Amino acid sequence: MKKKSIEDIEFKSKRVFMRVDFNVPLDETGNIRDDTRIRAALPTVRKVLDSGGRLILASHLGRPKGKRVESMTLRPVADALGDLLGQKVRFPADCIGSMVEELTGSLADGDVVLLENLRFHEGETRNDPVFAEQLGRLGEIYVNDAFGTAHRAHASTHGITSFISPCVAGYLMSREIEFLGRVLAEPEKPFVAILGGAKISGKIDVIENLIEKVDSFLIGGGMAFTFLKAQGFEIGDSILESNKLAMATDILARVEEAGTRFILPVDVRVSNSIESGSKTRMCKVEEIEPGDIGVDIGPQTLGIFEREIKKAGTVVWNGPMGVFEIPEFAAGTFETARILSESGAASIVGGGDSAAAVAAAGLTGKISHVSTGGGASLEFLEGKRLPGIEALDPG
Ligand code: 3PG
Repeated sequence: MKKKSIEDIEFKSKRVFMRVDFNVPLDETGNIRDDTRIRAALPTVRKVLDSGGRLILASHLGRPKGKRVESMTLRPVADALGDLLGQKVRFPADCIGSMVEELTGSLADGDVVLLENLRFHEGETRNDPVFAEQLGRLGEIYVNDAFGTAHRAHASTHGITSFISPCVAGYLMSREIEFLGRVLAEPEKPFVAILGGAKISGKIDVIENLIEKVDSFLIGGGMAFTFLKAQGFEIGDSILESNKLAMATDILARVEEAGTRFILPVDVRVSNSIESGSKTRMCKVEEIEPGDIGVDIGPQTLGIFEREIKKAGTVVWNGPMGVFEIPEFAAGTFETARILSESGAASIVGGGDSAAAVAAAGLTGKISHVSTGGGASLEFLEGKRLPGIEALDPG
């Protein structure tokens, strides 16, 4: 798993092609809603610039499917990065071609270019070797700091590594590998996994990979209801993946066989609709009635979770405990974030919704590691090998 790092490289006067994940959320007017991913790449960006490198940054934004889509231009990101760095970020209209080669070939030490969205070319997601070679031509050193995209075998994360050498991990990538890798390889015990989110379909592989590794699973969010249904509870109109009921029953049997605790909610907040202002009540899971929709975990459940989390040496959390985007249904998720931040355990939060919840609670700095990868951190926890990491030189 150990990869060659930027610490091992001399950047002075070299053209450095750096894959970053600047796939940031934009609002309708094209303003960046959350610049976490840009800030997360800054230490690596600064390292290259301070060492006199000539930096060529490349990223995707959204899924434009191989065509130029104006709403997915990286222009706002180039502007934001320029402000954060306090220096001009050149922004060509494309990511390959003679105009880009001329620009990148004329850079001075310490200059920065951000290429236009890689996914405006279909060669990117197809991992087309011709496109990868065109990208590879731009740099003399390849740095990958795009952990969020490491689960994709694309031209800029995978194919390009056949055309540039050395290929090394940036600080963000190294940190993600270190924290998530340690969770799987040598977690301090007891090891607790908190899993939530709407569906169990996205979490089954994580559960399977962790069954023998964790001491307990704490289950919340919409996915809990398929398990509760499998145990015979009435779940009203809560989220049910009926095609996963057999799988849920199988998992319940397997965790029992493995001696792993699998803790489901004992009380929940239910509502008559998933809208702010709707009528809600707190009830025990055996009191859920037809028509009720489970929207959050309850205080008794939180108490049980808290006892488990306080005892833990390592806690990994992926997926919210309820519909936390609606303030009345957010308590379980925010309380979980608070409990985790005060636990003293090594705490690792998977990207996406749970990272957003930790940020909204103002607790990001109190968690040992908040991953910048949504899909990537999940696949990592599933035990899969991520192509963007695999392609880098061994350390
Ligand atoms: C993400 O946001 O999870 C990454 O940037 C990957 O994006 P993708 O799912 O469109 O490949």
